[in-house]
Amino acid sequence: MTQPRHFISLNDLSSDEFRALIARAIDLKNNRNPDFQPLKGKVLAMIFEKSSTRTRVSFETGMAQLGGSALFLSSRDTQLGRGEPLADSAKVISSMVDCIMIRTYDHATVTTFAQHSRVPIINALTDLLHPCQLLADMQTYFELRGDIAKKTVCWVGDGNNMCHSYINAAMLLDFKLNIATPKDYQPLRSILESADERIQLFDTPEEAANNADLIVTDVWASMGQEQEQQKREQAFKNYQVNAKVMAQANKDALFMHCLPAHRNEEVATEVIDGKQSVIFIEAENRLHAQKALLEFLICC
Ligand code: CP
Ligand code: NVA
Repeated sequence: MTQPRHFISLNDLSSDEFRALIARAIDLKNNRNPDFQPLKGKVLAMIFEKSSTRTRVSFETGMAQLGGSALFLSSRDTQLGRGEPLADSAKVISSMVDCIMIRTYDHATVTTFAQHSRVPIINALTDLLHPCQLLADMQTYFELRGDIAKKTVCWVGDGNNMCHSYINAAMLLDFKLNIATPKDYQPLRSILESADERIQLFDTPEEAANNADLIVTDVWASMGQEQEQQKREQAFKNYQVNAKVMAQANKDALFMHCLPAHRNEEVATEVIDGKQSVIFIEAENRLHAQKALLEFLICC
């Protein structure tokens, strides 16, 4: 079996491919053509073990707009939820569809699926990475401000799946990434070790935001960490993106958040609903970026 092309991490792309996907996403957004149906007859299986609004709607709509269709598979209603081996599930599902998208907890679930799948696997979020969101975030920056190379991005909050994917993006697209997290919530050492001096850790959001062109944050407790909410609220109380943090950044800096957000926790209402916030463009771009990804993986 020839190995299909997977998208499990941004590192599955070269820098040129990442840039080409961003350009293609912008092109698909600006030149909408209902007669362009390169995925006619193609089917995407979408396996969700965690909740989703944006990811589900954007993949399902994206497939429909490109002429294909999508199947929503909740682990609650499939044999996956009853312990059918991942390898068996991957072999069976991939014998019937053209691409599989998975949102789950353990990153190894996605890599195991990929080992046994005859069609491309897309990581739609694991505890470790959220590469699809970075396609949309980067599309948004390029659209609104041009190339992100040599710019400074500031990540505030948890060193989580989004932060890890930002580290990968910084290396591929050559931007500086200043990360402000509490000591106990830094990104994984193994991911930091794959990076270089473009990535710097800071103790306070104000320091990290200095001269930044883009400020990004995410929830303090990710899906699966709900029971840690209170402990995390304490640990992160000095890590809110508010007007004081934004004031350290460049005047034309953008604010992004993958959503869903908790107003007045990780981000002050005045920031997320303020002029520099581009959260709804960012959310819409999930659709355009993933259409570019689906075309790249299924048609190539
Ligand atoms: N940003 C994001 O992935 O949103 P959903 O959890 O709604 O899919
Ligand atoms: N870090 C968040 C992102 C949600 C899109 C989570 O994993 O829940």
